[in-house]
Amino acid sequence: MNVGFIGVGRYVPERVVTNFDLEKTLDTNDEWIRTRTGIEQRHIADDDVDTSHMAYGAAKQAIENAGITPDQIDLILVATVTPDRPFPSVACMLQDQLGAENAAAMDISAACAGFMYGVVTAQQYIKAETYKHVLVIGVEKLSKITDWSDRNTAVLFGDGACAAVVAPVSEGRGILSFDLGAKGAGGKYLYENEAKHIVMNGREVFKFAVRQMGESALTVVEKAGLEKEQVDLLIPHQANIRIMDASRQRLGLPEEKMSSVIAKYGNTSAASIGNALVEELENGKIKDDDVLVLVGFGGGLTWGAIALRWGK
Ligand code: UT7
Repeated sequence: MNVGFIGVGRYVPERVVTNFDLEKTLDTNDEWIRTRTGIEQRHIADDDVDTSHMAYGAAKQAIENAGITPDQIDLILVATVTPDRPFPSVACMLQDQLGAENAAAMDISAACAGFMYGVVTAQQYIKAETYKHVLVIGVEKLSKITDWSDRNTAVLFGDGACAAVVAPVSEGRGILSFDLGAKGAGGKYLYENEAKHIVMNGREVFKFAVRQMGESALTVVEKAGLEKEQVDLLIPHQANIRIMDASRQRLGLPEEKMSSVIAKYGNTSAASIGNALVEELENGKIKDDDVLVLVGFGGGLTWGAIALRWGK
């Protein structure tokens, strides 16, 4: 059973906040942010645009793109650490909004690696022939848990959503291998505190990310029985251009074989990999039978990667 993406979508909030905007309220500057992270601007959702709203926008696009109807969806998995509220889950809210009355629904908490966890979970249900169409969403409204007076974190994040319909695809295409993992002992380096704000030890997360992203990307290439040079496009979690470049170098890939949209969106956590994927499809950078490596890491600490041969 080959399992892959038959439709994708995304939602990007309209409002843009540039580094220059942040200079006005924080002891920071555009030069520092650009050179240390690669970020130039981020999209921030307005108060009346909550997580479920963004998830719905991305989901609707993915379903249309897949050419299916909502009643054909068997399971909805929403990867998020910023749900509208602890319950009902964003997945249940979406099930209602989409009219996906035949779908089971639940949220997944794996921070920035959440979309990878969702896609792999979907693949397992489909391979077991339990379900046929699984809607996977990565969505985050980190702006609502950002401490806007903390320059260590406030400059990094953006809001958004991505979605994919995961389903059977033709022979040779789809997910070739995956790697998921966690290191709970590192949870203290990135978490939400009592005041409901993100707290981060940037250096520790950076060290972990550089090592783990490269390692995990390499693992899926090897597990798929591929050589590194067969990878057509690496789509890393858009956290920091220096972390992304380190994983690219680990695979020995030239710059043009890595997706980088971080300048426009910042770190959108669970939405970041899928958002970059959609952008590269729109740019015409991905064609059928290309080998893609998607890899992410996040709070938990967690990580996840898949190697994928593109196409239905
Ligand atoms: O999805 C996962 C989420 N997390 C991440 O991906 C974060 C991973 N970590 C990182 O990306 C980097 O560690 C940061 C971008 C957060 C920080 O970069 P760094 O090169 O590790 O800087 P640093 O923390 O070592 O700080 C260097 C200096 C410090 O000043 P001193 O102590 O040298 O005087 C910081 O106080 O830069 C200062 N600094 C800033 N200056 C201007 C920290 N944040 C800022 C800022 N603007 N926004």
